[in-house]
Amino acid sequence: GDPILVAIDGPAGSGKSSVSRASADRLGFGILDTGAAYRALAWIALQAGVDLDTEAAVVQLMDAWAFSITMRGEQRVTVGLAGAEPIDATAAIREHSVSGQVSRVSKHPVVRERLNEMFRELVAASGLPGVVIEGRDITTVVAPDAPVRILMTASAEARASRRAGELEGLSHAQVLADIAARDAKDALVVDFFNPAPGVTLVDTSDLNFEQSVQTVIDIVEAVR
Ligand code: C5P
Repeated sequence: GDPILVAIDGPAGSGKSSVSRASADRLGFGILDTGAAYRALAWIALQAGVDLDTEAAVVQLMDAWAFSITMRGEQRVTVGLAGAEPIDATAAIREHSVSGQVSRVSKHPVVRERLNEMFRELVAASGLPGVVIEGRDITTVVAPDAPVRILMTASAEARASRRAGELEGLSHAQVLADIAARDAKDALVVDFFNPAPGVTLVDTSDLNFEQSVQTVIDIVEAVR
């Protein structure tokens, strides 16, 4: 049958990605990082010289792109355009330059619809017992009927310190400003600060990594 879905949304640096991944591993589920798809699309559009602000141009690029992402084990992301060898973009999509540009592609409604279709297909074809799917609009748009829906938040300070540890060479203040700017742009398109009805709010500000993972596992076990 269809995999059990665990939908997790949240802002940048909420711990969502790493907590989702660890929870999925422990549950024996796969993980679908939807932000990686938005990043890969922004990255290939930048490579191809496509104007990220022009929806039709990005949609046209999507007709020719091939995207793949591993849903078990270490994440690998590959992207290609018709007729060309797919390129491993796992590291490239995490670069600061991509983080700064990605909101320009994710703001387009048709781009979002296309990606959402792709996410549902990836889940359905995964053959996995369950999938943790994480992003910004999973609990509300991509999988509103998921048996588990979580909005993971953390204070701006907690989020900036976690990210600062990941991004070398950037000051705490710069990381804080970058996250706030990206969240502000993204929040114009989807609300990932307030839980929709029926969505469980998990605030990780005062939780360590292990406690955050355990909180997710407990919520999943309660419905299993
Ligand atoms: O989760 P991550 O920070 O990697 O997401 C990168 C970007 O992808 C976000 O800043 C946002 O613009 C976009 N995104 C989105 N909807 C999702 C997941 C990510 O708009 N479900």
